[in-house]
Amino acid sequence: MKRVVQLGIAAAFLVVAVLALFVGRPGREAQNRVDLAPRPRVANAVGEEATLRNVTKKPIAYTIMPGPGNRVPRTRTLAVAVVDRIATDLPVEISFDNGRRTMTYLIHPGKPYSFRYDESNIIRVYPGSHGREDAADLAPYVPTPLEVVTRMLEIGAVGPNDIVYDLGCGDGRMVIAAAKTRGSHGVGIELDEALLAECRAAAEKEGVGKLVRFLRLDATKARLTDATILLLYLLPESLETLEPVFERDLAPGVRIVSHDYKIPGWDARIVRTEVIPGENGRDHRIILYRMPDKR
Ligand SMILES: C[S@@+](CC[C@H](N)C(=O)[O-])C[C@H]1O[C@@H](n2cnc3c(N)ncnc32)[C@H](O)[C@@H]1O
Repeated sequence: MKRVVQLGIAAAFLVVAVLALFVGRPGREAQNRVDLAPRPRVANAVGEEATLRNVTKKPIAYTIMPGPGNRVPRTRTLAVAVVDRIATDLPVEISFDNGRRTMTYLIHPGKPYSFRYDESNIIRVYPGSHGREDAADLAPYVPTPLEVVTRMLEIGAVGPNDIVYDLGCGDGRMVIAAAKTRGSHGVGIELDEALLAECRAAAEKEGVGKLVRFLRLDATKARLTDATILLLYLLPESLETLEPVFERDLAPGVRIVSHDYKIPGWDARIVRTEVIPGENGRDHRIILYRMPDKR
């Protein structure tokens, strides 16, 4: 009799366990659904979520790998120029096939990332500058070394009559150096509020607060009609994005001095290129352009 009771209890447990496996477990369709519902946008800081932006020219299928908090791989296709938001408290592994091999990346909550082309036209994931849907991500914050800034000012022949613009000005070093060493006026455009605070503090500290101003603005929406020279450190696809703004606003003769990256399709406008050896064998390229006469 005792044996029968034991068998009965064991059978009951088995039934409950099997039921538990199916009840409360998502069906196949739900398992494959990616939980990336857009959240309300938060400027710059993105809290406990990572953002992934597609800055390439084609849709990208990528997979969020299983990990704490998600038991099954979740695949989705990110359309061109779209930003995905991945809610997570922990680093998440993502993978995608870049046409040559499967790449995996660990992406971290609170950080923006972008799918971009590398110099060999292969798509990779890079850190971004912000996760906003309403603004272009032109480049993550990487400051130009001061000796390169000095050479850019020399190559651009910046003088006291110039109005210097830096689109994506970071800590403002380019327009501040131009004002301090060459007496020019300057406008720095930046989205990151913390960097803008650094710009304003540095301009005061360097005694050029009256010569320069800093604007919190998406550089793709800026008016550049009073610029006489642009000093830029942006990625090639961002220079390509800005090209219509240059064509619309810049007068003949305006100079553009670009650190490292060329403006796609503008080789005929290059006036000069110089390579400066940097630390750790990393060279810096400076490219000078001049806007042509209007046809
Ligand atoms: C590579 S850093 C260059 C900083 C500075 N020009 C220098 O050379 O030291 C690019 C900067 O562009 C800013 N940025 C990115 N997208 C932007 C946008 N849409 N509008 C304005 N600034 C942007 C980033 O926050 C970052 O500070």
